[in-house]
Amino acid sequence: MSGPRFPEGWSIEVLEKSHPRAKFQSGNGEVDDWLKKSALQSQKKHLTTSKVLLDETGNIAGYYSLAFSQIDFSDLPAELAKKLPRRQLPVSVLAWLGVDRSYQGRGIGGRLLATALVDCYQASQTFAFIAVILDCVDEQAKRFYGQFDFEQLPGYRMRLYLPFKSLEALATGK
Ligand SMILES: CC(C)(COP(=O)(O)OP(=O)(O)OC[C@H]1O[C@@H](n2cnc3c(N)ncnc32)[C@H](O)[C@@H]1OP(=O)(O)O)[C@@H](O)C(=O)NCCC(=O)NCCS
Repeated sequence: MSGPRFPEGWSIEVLEKSHPRAKFQSGNGEVDDWLKKSALQSQKKHLTTSKVLLDETGNIAGYYSLAFSQIDFSDLPAELAKKLPRRQLPVSVLAWLGVDRSYQGRGIGGRLLATALVDCYQASQTFAFIAVILDCVDEQAKRFYGQFDFEQLPGYRMRLYLPFKSLEALATGK
């Protein structure tokens, strides 16, 4: 369960000030601005952890940010809520994910997402949660996540969830 492979010489690192964030361009202003202006501050406050995918020259080819949160029992679809206590429940959040334009359409986004989900699964072995959730920035992003077993949360048009069982299957191949 080491996660997918990236090209020779590429690496994944926890975001640091020295990473060249200003050059990153995914084509979505919100996704770019988060990395450039907010990700490091948020990480210093222990609200999110961001990881960058660096190409062989050290440029940021992609990134993702993860966090923990809670979801109310009443927001869950029936099949997920079954047997769970009626209260706030822990979830892992894929807060942001983006691939630089120069690398889009080559399977990097899919592999970066798989890497983020392996991180989530590994975290779950220490801190339990019932699902991974995310808010899509737009319809294109929604279609992208729809290919990876994420489903829409009832009542929230842009919020998707991946039940723990699906996370485990994706992360472990079981
Ligand atoms: C969405 C994004 C991360 C995809 O990255 P990518 O490297 O181009 O994606 P991949 O090449 O790995 O594509 C993976 C699969 O998703 C599909 N896909 C990629 N972008 C898609 C899109 N916008 N809509 C629908 N499907 C898409 C690909 O066809 C591919 O499917 P396949 O394996 O069956 O061919 C990238 O386009 C991006 O950063 N966009 C701007 C920021 C954004 O929307 N982030 C997500 C929300 S925070």
